[in-house]
Amino acid sequence: MKTIIKKVDQTFIDENIIKEAGDIIKAGGLVAFPTETVYGLGADALNTKAAKKIYEAKGRPSDNPLIVHIAKLEDLETIAKDIPKTAYLLAEKFWPGPLTMILNKTNNVPLGTTGGLETVAIRMPSNKIATQLINASGGFIAAPSANTSGRPSPTLAAHVEEDLKGTIDMIIDGGMVDIGVESSIIDLTVTPPMVLRPGAITKTMMEAVIGEVSEDVTLMKDDDKHRPKAPGMKYRHYAPKAELILVEGEMETVIKNINVLSKEAVKEGKKVGIIATGESRDRYEVGEVKSIGTRAKEETIAHHLYQILREFDDDKVDIIYSEAFETKGIGKAIMNRLLKAAGHHILKV
Ligand code: TXA
Ligand code: MG
Repeated sequence: MKTIIKKVDQTFIDENIIKEAGDIIKAGGLVAFPTETVYGLGADALNTKAAKKIYEAKGRPSDNPLIVHIAKLEDLETIAKDIPKTAYLLAEKFWPGPLTMILNKTNNVPLGTTGGLETVAIRMPSNKIATQLINASGGFIAAPSANTSGRPSPTLAAHVEEDLKGTIDMIIDGGMVDIGVESSIIDLTVTPPMVLRPGAITKTMMEAVIGEVSEDVTLMKDDDKHRPKAPGMKYRHYAPKAELILVEGEMETVIKNINVLSKEAVKEGKKVGIIATGESRDRYEVGEVKSIGTRAKEETIAHHLYQILREFDDDKVDIIYSEAFETKGIGKAIMNRLLKAAGHHILKV
């Protein structure tokens, strides 16, 4: 299949391109598009066959449900029922934006979209290209991250091309995404509501709006006894090809340990990658050192996380040592993704 690739400027959106993409989705095709979190791979959420194509293109297990993206609050009631007041309160505060809510689904949503579940994940993105595309496609776009299953999520159109060029109808290149990690997911079908995936909207931010919120126990630790509540969180996700090891502790000790470990690995003939920060990058003595952002502003770390994991794939490193991060604010999303990418391999020093 030939994949159409079109650049769109977010500040001056070409309506013809949006219409072309919308028509593809209406006809049951697949279009990758930017959102404020990561690029999504979109299909008509109300069309089982179209949703099925997403699973094929990504190589995604069919029990892993998709998020339905909407652009208007009133459309919520077409796809969700028994909607609690908390959903409207969260929507008012955080939509459009990087928050996904799990609610009971109506019969309008096929089980092919929800991986067989009676609940549906719903999000209203804030990226203008995304919003216009949803409107041009009939209002309901099912979109997982636009990577092949198991690879880091795409934050640039080039990442989507790497994974999916030739297997999908169109890619809209809207430049680099804003946030860089996927939306926060909250399950509103349980009491108290539960965070299933941390993102830019933190548990504390949600609690300020709706009161007590719990958290899936598997988010930050590897736990054989519990399965993650979001089916997609059970896979070794976001993973680079190389072995990734997180090193946690006092900054000076971490730097010293990573230096010792990387020198040993180099001696064994391994190609080493190091995930450092603006504050520490000059302190490493061997290996391919990349600064992921600055600790003074953790948003910069989220922004570059997946890009750096992909760059290390291109560099063909054998082993990556990464500094660990604080789990406050967006740091929790960063550490959740890094822990998964590392298969929970963490060295406490
Ligand atoms: O930021 C995002 O959310 C991006 C952009 C494209 O919007 N999308 C995204 O989709 O991250 P995906 O498919 O990569 O991740 C969706 C996650 C998976 O872990 C899935 O298992 C979970 O949401 N999920 C979807 N529906 C669910 C449901 N009904 N119950 C529990 N978890 C659900
Ligand atoms: Mg994903």
